[in-house]
Amino acid sequence: MNERIIALDGLHTSISVRSGETLLAALERCGYKMRRSCRNGVCEICQITLLEGEVEQRYPAGRFQAPQSAILACTATALSDLRVYIEGLQMPGVLAVKKVICEITETEKLNHDVYRIRLHMPATASHAVEYYAGQYLNVLLPTGKQASFSIASAPDMGRELELHIRHIPESEMSSAIVDHLLNNPSVEIELPRGDCYVQATEMKDDTQLIMAAASTGFAQVKSMVEHLLANQHHNPIHVYWGARNADDFYLADLPEQWAHEHSHVTMTRVVEPDAASAWQGRTGLLPAAILEDFTEFDNTLVIGAGSPGMVYALLDACEAAGMKEEQLKSDVFAYAPRPKK
Ligand code: FES
Repeated sequence: MNERIIALDGLHTSISVRSGETLLAALERCGYKMRRSCRNGVCEICQITLLEGEVEQRYPAGRFQAPQSAILACTATALSDLRVYIEGLQMPGVLAVKKVICEITETEKLNHDVYRIRLHMPATASHAVEYYAGQYLNVLLPTGKQASFSIASAPDMGRELELHIRHIPESEMSSAIVDHLLNNPSVEIELPRGDCYVQATEMKDDTQLIMAAASTGFAQVKSMVEHLLANQHHNPIHVYWGARNADDFYLADLPEQWAHEHSHVTMTRVVEPDAASAWQGRTGLLPAAILEDFTEFDNTLVIGAGSPGMVYALLDACEAAGMKEEQLKSDVFAYAPRPKK
């Protein structure tokens, strides 16, 4: 097969384009994303800049040579090796961050201070939003205030989003967010954010997952578990959910239902020691509970969904038991890095 090379200007990388294949088709085959709509040379949204080489364009028909020729990626085929510049080109696996206005479809108080908020994203193609299980979004208020929340729903749910939001009355920001969500028909959000996520297609068969969720950190874990279950993922998943008090838990027995219906899922709730509590289950802190149950971490991925204090305590405890730092994923490492030892 007669292949040509397309160098992608500014990205220090190149792809091959097959004989007769359009530049857009070659880019998409390699996992890149760019602006495109009609795919027929009509809308011109896929216009790119030809910096080196020569192409033949099916529609509008013609031959174009570099430098600086504007060509349409959806109808152009390569007559030589090329170098092109494509504004806004997304690398494979990287999702575009977008702002969208969502309809607030449901608000429900799940316990004494946590609300479940359901959002419906708009349908138009130009607003289509993708995210990975475990990523978060920013809620953007008209006042300019914004706050981050894990997405509790799985990407497999399409345009339906779920958030678990704890209302902290003494926090002005928290009250402003809750007040807006409870009293308005729509809200602007920005997503996806965060690099702590899982993809069922990327998970190795022999990897087990240990997920440590503190308080509403459960939202991030819920998205991951539901995504993996929706994709018939059968690797062991061990969920640990920690709370200060038993009444801080919410969503009744949803995680126990996962464990009941899927033999590869286990669920453990852990409540901080409290003499006044009527809690009959396990007590203690999440890192200690996990280390009681696991003594080695080969082929294990640990997810830390909670405060920096919990995540770093978990990291230290697991590293002492032989886990490597790169086996623990958490958003904490990005927003609250600690100095290297
Ligand atoms: S996608 Fe419309 S002209 Fe290429």
